[in-house]
Amino acid sequence: MTVRTGPHERPRRLRTTPALRRLVAQTRLHPAELVLPIFVRDGIAEPQPIGSMPGVVQHTTSSAVRAVRDAVAAGVGGVMVFGVPRAEDKDSSGSVGLRPDGVLNAALRSLRDEVGDQTVLMSDLCLDEFTDHGHCGVLDQAGRVDNDATLEVYAQLAVAQAEAGAHVVGPSGMMDGQVRVVREALDSAGHQDVAVLAYTAKYASGFYGPFREAVASTLVGDRQTYQQDPANRTESLRELRLDLEEGADLVMVKPALPYLDVLSDVAAVADVPVAAYQVSGEYAMIEAAASQGLLDRDRMVMETLTSIRRAGAQVLLTYYATAAARLLGG
Ligand code: PBG
Repeated sequence: MTVRTGPHERPRRLRTTPALRRLVAQTRLHPAELVLPIFVRDGIAEPQPIGSMPGVVQHTTSSAVRAVRDAVAAGVGGVMVFGVPRAEDKDSSGSVGLRPDGVLNAALRSLRDEVGDQTVLMSDLCLDEFTDHGHCGVLDQAGRVDNDATLEVYAQLAVAQAEAGAHVVGPSGMMDGQVRVVREALDSAGHQDVAVLAYTAKYASGFYGPFREAVASTLVGDRQTYQQDPANRTESLRELRLDLEEGADLVMVKPALPYLDVLSDVAAVADVPVAAYQVSGEYAMIEAAASQGLLDRDRMVMETLTSIRRAGAQVLLTYYATAAARLLGG
């Protein structure tokens, strides 16, 4: 057989018309794969804009219900809920996260009452929004994040969020063993059907900057003793192995765009659905460039989401979920 090369081989032939390009497109986005993160804040009468995330707000419970209804109407597949308590309700152990009337649990309850099973309700299972020091766990005497003491609180948080109506809990604190304790706690409380979305490869990233404003974080310092070093690649596969052994139903890589290699590695071997989180800083970069007329927002949204999908994510968390679903005609 002669291999035909040179002038005979013309890849451009398949790019000639929109219909041809559509026919051979290898990656498609669908609104059902998109998940909208939302922030619900206690003690506010009106939604509050987040300066570093133009277009994203801290919701009241009722505006959150409206935002979720809009997302559902656009075809978005799920929502990830974060709670922002009043400053005076924060303490060293994040106890407001456990209270049934705490902002996150109350919001989950309202959302489940209002939208039921029409969407997938996910909850952030972490302590940084609830602690007065802003760390994702409780601290030991020396002020270090105490892994095993934190796991005990995560177990209780998981049950509180499941009772409040979460379909999926998302442990995001990067404590060793968190998936196992969350799974065991859910099972022993009769919540066998509540799934665990593990933040499997979560890097200590500058791209979370705007999120800190969104949740009114008090963190001083950083999370480098529990989140991964951006320089490392293979330890994500180790984290994946552990999360799967511990019972993760879905696994996630975060941030998304700067870690497409990691996403691709994880997607190549995971036998559960793989998610990726286009985080607050990724959103802020697109917004900043678009607002100055430097980039076309809609194209950047679609191109970044397509790239994340192409690298292997099956589920995409993005603050653009509703907007992107509308662009996709969902
Ligand atoms: C921890 C958590 C964070 C984000 C999601 N869950 C912050 C952090 O780890 O510092 C960041 C999300 C984003 O930046 O959009 N509860």
